[in-house]
Amino acid sequence: MVGTNLNVLLVGSGGREHALAWALSASPLLGKLYCAPGNAGIAEAAECVPIPATDLDRLVAFAREKKIDFAVIGPETPLVMGLWDRFERAGIRALGPSMAGAVLEGSKGFVKDLCAEYDIPTARYGRFNEAAVAIAFAETLGLPVVIKADGLAAGKGVIIAETRAEADRAIASMFEGQFGEAGAEVVIEEFLGGEEASFFVLTDGEHVLPLAGAQDHKRAFDGDRGPNTGGMGAYSPAPVLTPGVAEKTMEKIVKPTIAAMRARGTPYMGVLYAGLMIRDGEPKLIEYNCRFGDPECQVLMLRLKSDLLTALLAARDGQLANLDLRWRDEAALTVVMAARGYPGMYEKGSVIGDLSKAQGIEGVQVFHAGTERHGGKLVATGGRVLNVTALGKSVAEAQTRAYKAVDLIDWPGGFCRRDIGWRGIEREKHNP
Ligand code: AMP
Ligand code: GLY
Repeated sequence: MVGTNLNVLLVGSGGREHALAWALSASPLLGKLYCAPGNAGIAEAAECVPIPATDLDRLVAFAREKKIDFAVIGPETPLVMGLWDRFERAGIRALGPSMAGAVLEGSKGFVKDLCAEYDIPTARYGRFNEAAVAIAFAETLGLPVVIKADGLAAGKGVIIAETRAEADRAIASMFEGQFGEAGAEVVIEEFLGGEEASFFVLTDGEHVLPLAGAQDHKRAFDGDRGPNTGGMGAYSPAPVLTPGVAEKTMEKIVKPTIAAMRARGTPYMGVLYAGLMIRDGEPKLIEYNCRFGDPECQVLMLRLKSDLLTALLAARDGQLANLDLRWRDEAALTVVMAARGYPGMYEKGSVIGDLSKAQGIEGVQVFHAGTERHGGKLVATGGRVLNVTALGKSVAEAQTRAYKAVDLIDWPGGFCRRDIGWRGIEREKHNP
């Protein structure tokens, strides 16, 4: 039963959660929106409460006290820790997945075995808990070879080894505990060539509703060089995800996965993010995430015309069969502004100037990813700090607007890439 005047609790504090707060706060169903712990941008759309996203006891107690009708959990860590299960046991409806469903992100080995069992296209692989055996298997694959810690490692548990020596070292250091418990088991897999894209769906455990596709830029510097990050920018739609590729992704990858989770008695409900490698129009699964991408969510929310809260409630209540979502035809693009030094050591506390000029550009929304207000001042408190997001008739126009806004932000402590969207813009040039 969908009521109105709902009390909603959003969990998380990044740019993804600011975009979700922005979309939720426009819902005609919303009564009051809380966010734990939130950030300075989210505070403009929600009442922020200083409870960390991983403090499950306090989150449940708070939700009870405030009579929360629906909880939306942004990041993977609380989902994998079982926050959905805790909320639901306390009688609070929440968008999943459950702890058992979140294993799709929480264990890479689990996903690989599921792919093998259901014939889902993915890279050839092996699972290991002993270095010597892992090294021997890696030698049967070509180079480069991909070495992954099984569990959650904040996006850092993947090493693409170009040489045997590098592969041996990576395997050894994972078993020596470089990624803690996440590396107690290691997955070794074949390297897939092609172009990456992210595909998002919403599911109630049975029905699967495609959301939209996006591409992000994981490397820190222009030209996709430098260290890996959580994502330096994204855009949607991703031209490489043609309708044909999207259809294959649904039929060969996502639907079989949702059916398999149901058949195992652990139905998957919530947002599912499929990381794909696409080559010659054929998608293969690289990984699943059990949540929206960050910063992909920011571009998706700008393009979503339908009410987000209605859609998320329908997923929770097994009502997706009758839901139809509407999207803007326009493209959206987001540029991540990060603290200088990110993803390595960076300073916290640098002051960010007034954002109203940037925010005033047509089609632009500035989402906060790591900010706090100290006195009257806006300060940077994270690695990724702002997500300057814009709509445009094309990826190229969205890019122009986003950088126009970036250039109006006075923040000497920050930096960004200047080429977000380049792959999409190249494709637009060839297929105007
Ligand atoms: P993951 O955390 O599994 O998404 O891996 C992080 C990144 O490593 C991906 O976004 C890809 O760029 C890359 N990667 C992971 N697995 C493979 C693979 N089998 N072949 C090529 N690149 C991969
Ligand atoms: N942008 C990548 C992620 O959210 O995992």
